[in-house]
Amino acid sequence: MSAPPAAPANEVVPLRWRDDHLALLDQTLLPAEERWLEIRDPEPLAAAIRRLAVRGAPAIGVAAAYGVALALATGPDEESAARFAAAHDLLLATRPTAVNLRWALDRQRAVFARHAGAPRATLFARLVEEARAIEAEDRAACRAMGSHGAALFGTGERLLTHCNAGALATAGFGTAVGVIRAAWEAGKVERVWVDETRPLLQGARLTAWELGRLGIPHRLVTDSSVGALMARGLVTGVVVGADRIAANGDTANKIGTYTVAVLAARHGVPFYVAAPRSTFDLGLPTGAGIPIEERRGEEVTHLGGRPVAAPGTEGFNLAFDVTPAELIAAIVTETGVLRPPFGPALAAAV
Ligand code: MRU
Repeated sequence: MSAPPAAPANEVVPLRWRDDHLALLDQTLLPAEERWLEIRDPEPLAAAIRRLAVRGAPAIGVAAAYGVALALATGPDEESAARFAAAHDLLLATRPTAVNLRWALDRQRAVFARHAGAPRATLFARLVEEARAIEAEDRAACRAMGSHGAALFGTGERLLTHCNAGALATAGFGTAVGVIRAAWEAGKVERVWVDETRPLLQGARLTAWELGRLGIPHRLVTDSSVGALMARGLVTGVVVGADRIAANGDTANKIGTYTVAVLAARHGVPFYVAAPRSTFDLGLPTGAGIPIEERRGEEVTHLGGRPVAAPGTEGFNLAFDVTPAELIAAIVTETGVLRPPFGPALAAAV
């Protein structure tokens, strides 16, 4: 199942539409192996999202948009509505925190409604067209965030990032890593600190891999090193991505982000969030309403499939946390850099 996509040299992309199927780079195998999965049905896509073969809020949204189209790749016309609804509900239930998933599926539902009653083949074509648009818009949004975000920095920056908010987590280029990349291309970055990001090591496995391909100088650190690095004055700024941003600016992101934000406040280090508007959930007044995914305890008690705790030890595995808006210096989005108070700034941006 390996179909290397045609992509510009060195540009990482996590997925490619291939006429009749979705090619997905299996992120669980990185950096050891670059294996592409051929996804032809919503069910294997749902399984791939659940096991994080494709992950990162915007990338999940793009993948799901193709997933509902795949539900109508074959089948009798009269089953289209039922097949679409089943795929929609299946994909929506895969991961609760990243609101980009619901946002992309809402867009596809509107497309389906606009063409209700059309032959299956027409619906398939329209849904693929919309998924392509969502993918292209996300890539453009990331580039725009890069330009806006790079302007935040001076020279000789030593920026820290948590998890992977890079090209792999989006349609390409990345959010937080896109901002760091654009700043580095502008000659402003001396070094990137990469948190390993326990338990699933998205920082170690994915962000370090992306930065290495781009030739951006970086050092990998344990999550628990952040305070010590800041105390030594070795971090000049933090840039992270987001899975959902509430109306007041409270931001859900990978577990450990909140800890980094508290440490950044303690040490006077600016803490920035980069996210497209598809990550905003202005229907939620504060972060208290953001659903937080709880994953299997085995992801904590085991490392790379091997137990690291005594047999019988139970893990508790919150996959995300919420950083209160008051700890965030700015939110970089595709329309510009938003500053506190975030309530009016976020509302104006949409
Ligand atoms: O569990 P993951 O790997 O999907 O978590 C990803 C993150 O937390 C990212 O920081 C977030 O989705 C932003 S991606 C541009």
